[in-house]
Amino acid sequence: MHSYRGTTTLVTGASKGIGRAYARELARRGSDLVLVARSRPALDQLAAEIRAEHGVGARVIAADLADPSGPAGVVDELNGQRITVDLLLNNAGMGSVGPFFDRPFEQSLQSVEVNITGLMRMTRLIGAGMVERGSGGIINVGSTAAFQPMPYQASYAATKAFVLYFTEALAEELRGTGVRVMGAHPGATDTGFFDNTTAVMDARVTDTPEAVAAKTLDDFARGRAASYPGRRLQRVGSWAPRFLPRTAVTRLVAVINRSLGYHEVQDTGAPAR
Ligand SMILES: NC(=O)c1ccc[n+]([C@@H]2O[C@H](COP(=O)([O-])OP(=O)(O)OC[C@H]3O[C@@H](n4cnc5c(N)ncnc54)[C@H](OP(=O)(O)O)[C@@H]3O)[C@@H](O)[C@H]2O)c1
Repeated sequence: MHSYRGTTTLVTGASKGIGRAYARELARRGSDLVLVARSRPALDQLAAEIRAEHGVGARVIAADLADPSGPAGVVDELNGQRITVDLLLNNAGMGSVGPFFDRPFEQSLQSVEVNITGLMRMTRLIGAGMVERGSGGIINVGSTAAFQPMPYQASYAATKAFVLYFTEALAEELRGTGVRVMGAHPGATDTGFFDNTTAVMDARVTDTPEAVAAKTLDDFARGRAASYPGRRLQRVGSWAPRFLPRTAVTRLVAVINRSLGYHEVQDTGAPAR
């Protein structure tokens, strides 16, 4: 059983949502933290709370992971402060919801830059030290969206398919090296993911970020190759593409997403940070 006590975990996207819950749960389990996101005030506040409540170390590095220089800047700061990361939790992510041709293209592009390019840069830059030392862990947060094409979340689901395949291939490449890699695939989780749009999640099947964080960390501690930290229904949903033709699954997802109004999503305000 992996123990988090006395280790150092870097959590990306720690300023809110599931990332904040990961940070809190890791602190509760005794891990020191490096908190990364763009919103420094939110990170500073979380770090202060974590230090006061759990007595662990919590440092903040503000960075835009969509910017090619963002991950390199994080590593420069880690090196400058002589911090060794034992566990990298690549959680930062975002996605566009709505018809691909009706929504701002910038959001789709940014989801590729954060969910794919940023995640890959962080993995390469921080994982290299782990491989050299022969110890460490990487958790990449995917989604149940990874398991099938998703009309009205087309680019987002495709970025998560990348995370799924990239993570599983890497886990196999590193098997037996002392560096463990796990994908975590939450289902709908009650966060600000759809903030500033009219899109809402189906409250009947939505999990809390706290439950998702605790389950992910339990699964990693148990040595699981993949984590499905949402309710069982979410896991079962990810099996559908194995048994049904992909065209049928894609049409079914379109029906579900239209029933949630994702085909006519509108913005409600400027993206907040
Ligand atoms: N909520 C769900 O239903 C759900 C389901 C499955 C998987 N997921 C995945 O879980 C992860 C967390 O999502 P969430 O629901 O917690 O979303 P959220 O509440 O919107 O939080 C997203 C986090 O990512 C950070 N982030 C976004 N763009 C960034 C950038 N360019 N550079 C650095 N950090 C950036 C945000 O911080 P700043 O804005 O401060 O930079 C924030 O801390 C994502 O990978 C998401 O795809 C979510």
